[in-house]
Order: sequence, then C-alpha cells, then structure tokens
Amino acid sequence: MLYKLIRSLLFKLDPETAHALIMGNIDWAAATDLIRLVCPRPVRAPVEVMGLKFPNAVGLAAGMDKTGEHVAALGDLGFGHIEAGTFTPYPQSGNPKPRLWRLIPAEGVINHMGFNNCGADKAIENLDRSARSYRSMGGILGVNIGKQNSTPVENALPDYQKCMQKLYGSADYLAIDISCPNTPGLTRLQEVDALEPLVRGIAEERERLAGEYERRVPITIKIGPDLQDETILAMSDLFVKYGIDAVTATNTTVSRKGVADLEKSSNPGGLSGKPLFERSTEVVRLLADHLQGAMPIIAVGGIIRADDAVAKMQAGASLVQLYTGFIYTGPELIAQCARAIDDWQRQQA
Ligand SMILES: Cc1cc2nc3c(=O)[nH]c(=O)nc-3n(C[C@H](O)[C@H](O)[C@H](O)COP(=O)(O)O)c2cc1C
Repeated sequence: MLYKLIRSLLFKLDPETAHALIMGNIDWAAATDLIRLVCPRPVRAPVEVMGLKFPNAVGLAAGMDKTGEHVAALGDLGFGHIEAGTFTPYPQSGNPKPRLWRLIPAEGVINHMGFNNCGADKAIENLDRSARSYRSMGGILGVNIGKQNSTPVENALPDYQKCMQKLYGSADYLAIDISCPNTPGLTRLQEVDALEPLVRGIAEERERLAGEYERRVPITIKIGPDLQDETILAMSDLFVKYGIDAVTATNTTVSRKGVADLEKSSNPGGLSGKPLFERSTEVVRLLADHLQGAMPIIAVGGIIRADDAVAKMQAGASLVQLYTGFIYTGPELIAQCARAIDDWQRQQA
C-alpha cells in the first residue's frame, strides 16, 4: 500500500532521477529501520547452489547497485544474494542521457545505460565497506564484471581477466556479463567461435587465482535471450566443458515483441520486465532440459509477481533474480517470491 504511494510519486520523475533518489536515500532508510515500513522481514529458506549457502533463493539482479555502495541496505530488504556491478576495469560514464524509459502499461523498462560504473579499483573499496555486514550475516555477494566500452571485442578477455584479478577477493561468486546489448559488440562474444577462447581464458584465470587466494570463487556466465536455441545449447556445453559453475539466463532483450505500439518502445537498449518473462523462462527450460543438472541455472527476466518466481523454478532454475519487478511491485516482492518458492519446494519434497 505504502509502496504504491511511493511509486506514484517516483513515476512522476524521470526514471534515472528516481533511481538516483532511491539509491541516494536507501542507506539512511535502512539504518533507521524505515525500510521495515515498506518491506516485510527477510525470509530464511536456505538453498545451496554453486557450493554456496544462500539464505533464500531470491537475489537482486545486476545493474541496480552499479557502484557497490549499497549492498548492506539492499540486503536489509531481504535479498538472499546481491549481484553488484557490472564493473569494468576502469570507471566509465556509459551512454548519453536519456538512457532509461518506463513502459508502464507493459510493466517493462528499456535501458541503454552502457555499463556506467565506478571501475574495479573503486568497487573494491566500496564493496569492502558496504558488503561486510551483509556477508557476515550470511548474505551472498555476486560481483558482475564486463569489458570497457572502448575495448574492441577481440580484446575482451584481458578486460575480464583484469576485473577478475582486482575483484576476486571481494566476491562470493563472479558473474561474467557477455550479453549486455548496450556495450558495442559485446553480444558477439556469444558466438561459439569467439566464446571458446574467452571461456577457456576465464577458467584458466580462475584456476590461477584459486591457487593464489586458496579459495575457489564460483563463476556464472550471463547470457542473453536473443539467440537461436541451438546457440544457447552449444554455449552451455562449453560452460560445462570448462568447469563454469552456473549459467544466468537472461539479460535484457532487443526485441520489442508485444510492446511495439507503446510510447517510448522505439528507444534503443535492452527491454526488461514482464515483456521479457516468456522468452527468458523458455531459455531456462531449454537449458534445464539439455543440461540435466550438469550445471545450475540462475533465472532472471520478468519476475513481477511471486508466481513468476515459482514458474522459473518449475522451468528448472536453482535461484532467481529480479530488477524491474522491484520497481513495479516494490520491495515486498522479495519476501513474497522467497516464501512462494519455499512453499513450492516443500510441496516437491
Ligand atoms: C536499468 C537497468 C540496468 C541494468 N544493468 C545491468 C548491468 O550492468 N549488468 C547486467 O548484467 N545486467 C544489467 N541489467 C539487466 C538485469 O540484471 C536483468 O538481467 C534484466 O533486467 C532482466 O530482469 P528483470 O526483468 O527482472 O529486470 C540491467 C537492467 C536494468 C533495468
């Protein structure tokens, strides 16, 4: 109820201004317990995935905390894991504004952000400060990494390796983003010929770092929905071959199916939210049928209500993440999803 009121005020603002307003105030709101007014207590329903113990199956998708400064406050909302980033080796400002649009009748968002972030060095500092209490209470911190916009796609591997070297010690797991449609050429990394050397290089770097840190940090690779089914399956075979620990499906879509007649739908960028649900869930099902448990799937895309989260689990996911649903439904969605998944899992047992 209260969130509906807050949302109606936020939706009067330009979307990026509203985002900045929320992120600029979330830390003190959490510190003063004001957050409890819009958010039920976190749900404890532990699950083990990638060798990590998650307090519940619901996480925050990458892109909301792009500086890693707000992990503790976002954790207070009840997320079992938080994926901070995407971080690139050096700071960058992303694409020119405006670069974020709401498609309100469709419960969708188009973003053309372009990996605006503080860079890996600053991220280490921010995460060290903001994630310590969250992790000490059992919350899981994912660190999502990408390539610099100015790096040609053929040279992407050294960018990922640089981010791994800098951020390995800060992460419970690493997420490799090769599917953001807003970074020039990035989605070409998903072509199988380009992908094999990249995945091999990432796997080798992880082995080296695991030795150095005496800790093996799990890796998930985040893929997009705009690929042929055969390509998705071939990619997942490569991930298994090189010992990648999970696949995250999916990033945003460049498709405008079902929303083409809406105002603002012709803006450039990736579409998220409800219009993405069907295809991203189909990708999860496709992967699950093919992988037969060889690797867990982290499902993200279009979770707006608790039923959507359960549908992702029924399709074969081990964890879910949300972003756009958080904007439309509000923070109570986190506990609703965690409880619905827990109930569903108990029925299966
Ligand atoms: C404003 C915005 C920024 C995003 N930034 C990133 C990002 O930096 N890295 C990334 O891997 N995904 C990013 N995403 C994609 C989300 O993590 C998620 O995969 C996608 O939005 C689908 O989930 P949803 O329908 O629950 O929003 C972003 C999404 C939005 C809406």
